[in-house]
Amino acid sequence: MRIAEVAEVTRPPLPTGSREIDRVTNGGLTPASVTLLAGEPGIGKSTLALQLAAEAVRQGRRALYVSAEEAPAQVRARASRLDALGGELWLLGERRVEAILGEVDHLRPELVVVDSIQTVGVEAVSGVPGSVTQVREAALLLAEAARTREAAVLLVGHVTKDGSLAGPRQLEHLVDTVLSFEGDRHHALRLLRAVKHRFGPTSELGLFEMVGGGLVDVDDASGLLLADRRAGADGSVVFPMLDGRRPLLVEIQSLVVTGPGTTPRRSAEGLDSGRLGVLLAVLGRVLELPVLNAEVYCLAAGGVAVNDQGVDLALACAIVSSLASRPLPADTVVCGEIGLGGEVRTVKQLDRRLAEVARAGFRRAVVPSTAPDVPGVELVRVRTVNEALLATGLAGSRPARAARPPAGEGRPKIAAG
Ligand SMILES: Nc1ncnc2c1ncn2[C@@H]1O[C@H](COP(=O)(O)OP(=O)(O)O)[C@@H](O)[C@H]1O
Ligand SMILES: [Mg+2]
Repeated sequence: MRIAEVAEVTRPPLPTGSREIDRVTNGGLTPASVTLLAGEPGIGKSTLALQLAAEAVRQGRRALYVSAEEAPAQVRARASRLDALGGELWLLGERRVEAILGEVDHLRPELVVVDSIQTVGVEAVSGVPGSVTQVREAALLLAEAARTREAAVLLVGHVTKDGSLAGPRQLEHLVDTVLSFEGDRHHALRLLRAVKHRFGPTSELGLFEMVGGGLVDVDDASGLLLADRRAGADGSVVFPMLDGRRPLLVEIQSLVVTGPGTTPRRSAEGLDSGRLGVLLAVLGRVLELPVLNAEVYCLAAGGVAVNDQGVDLALACAIVSSLASRPLPADTVVCGEIGLGGEVRTVKQLDRRLAEVARAGFRRAVVPSTAPDVPGVELVRVRTVNEALLATGLAGSRPARAARPPAGEGRPKIAAG
C-alpha cells in the first residue's frame, strides 16, 4: 500500500483520572497496545494497576484484572481500600495464559491487567513461569491479544534491586510502552517515568505519594522530598535537579570519616559512584583536601535516583561540609557540573531549575557563571569549586577571615573534622 492509503485510526487513550499518569503516558493507556509497568517488589505496581482499572470502570468501560500472584481475596481487600469495588471491574485468579485469553474473548474488556508477567505461563511451552522463554511467549500472546481484541493491556513486571527486569528486560522491544515505577519503599514518594513510549515523549516524570487510599498525585514534590531535612546540618546540600523536563529539589547528604584506621571506603545511594570517585579525586588532588583516604558515604534523600551531572557541585559541597563540620546556609541551593581541573561547568535548563528554587522559597543559589537571572533568587556565580566553597562559607578559616585570599584565588583552608 502507498503510505497514504493506510487507514488512519485514532483511538483516544483510556482516561487515567490522574494528572501525573496522564503526563507520563501522554493522556492514558492506548487501546490495542501493551504497556509494561516495571518496578521493585512493594513499590506499588499492583496498586497503580488496580487504580487504572478502577478509573477505566468509572469512565464506563469494562476492565479485567488478572491476578496470577495474589489470591483474589487479597486483591479484593486492596480494591476495597482503594474504593474500587464498583461496576464492571472483573477479577480473574489465573496463571495460564491460554485460559486468560479465553476469558478476554468472553468478557471483551477494554483494559486487561496481568499481574504479573513473571507468574503466568503458557502451557504449550516448556519451562517454569518466570523463565526467559515463558515470559517472552506469554508477553507475545498477550500483545497479540491486545492488537486483535483492541484492548489496552498492562503487564506488571518485577525488577530486581540492580534495576534489571528479571526476564522482562527482553520484553522491552515486544511492548509499546515501558513505564518504570521507582522510589524508596520506606519513603512515600513514588516516581513514574516512561522508559519507552510509542505514543508520546519519554521525558516526563510523574510524582505520587503512597497513602492508605492508594497513590495520589503530588503537587509539591520538592516539599515532600525536603520534609525530613534538618536544615543547617553538616553534610547536607539542596540540589535543584532536573529529571526529564521536571525540576525537583533533592537533599544530597554526605558523611566523611577521617583519621587513623579509616580505609578509603565509598558508598553512593541514588548517586553515580563513578562520579563520586571523580569528585573525590578533584577535591583531593586539585584542592588538596584530605579526602583520598577518607571513608565517604553519600546519598540522595528520599530514594530518588539522581541521573544529572549538575549534582557534582552540590555533592562536592556536601562532602566538604561534612569534612569541615560546617553547615551551608539553610536557604542556599547548589548546582553545577565539575570538570577534572575543578572548574564549574554549566548545566542544562538552569532557568527551569531556578524557577523551582524560587517557588520552593530558597533565597540563594550557587550556580555556574553562565546562569541567567531569575527573580526572587540571589545568584552566586562561580567558576571553580574553590569559589563555590568560599561563597558557601565552607572554606576560609573563620578566625583568619580577614587574611583570606580574594575569591577565586588561593586554596581553601579546611581542617579535617
Ligand atoms: N493498608 C495499607 N495502607 C497503606 N499503604 C499500604 C497498605 N498496604 C500496602 N500499602 C502500601 O502498598 C505497598 C505495596 O503495594 P503493591 O501495589 O502491592 O506493590 P507491588 O505490586 O509493586 O509489589 C506497600 O509497600 C505499602 O507502601
Ligand atoms: Mg504486586
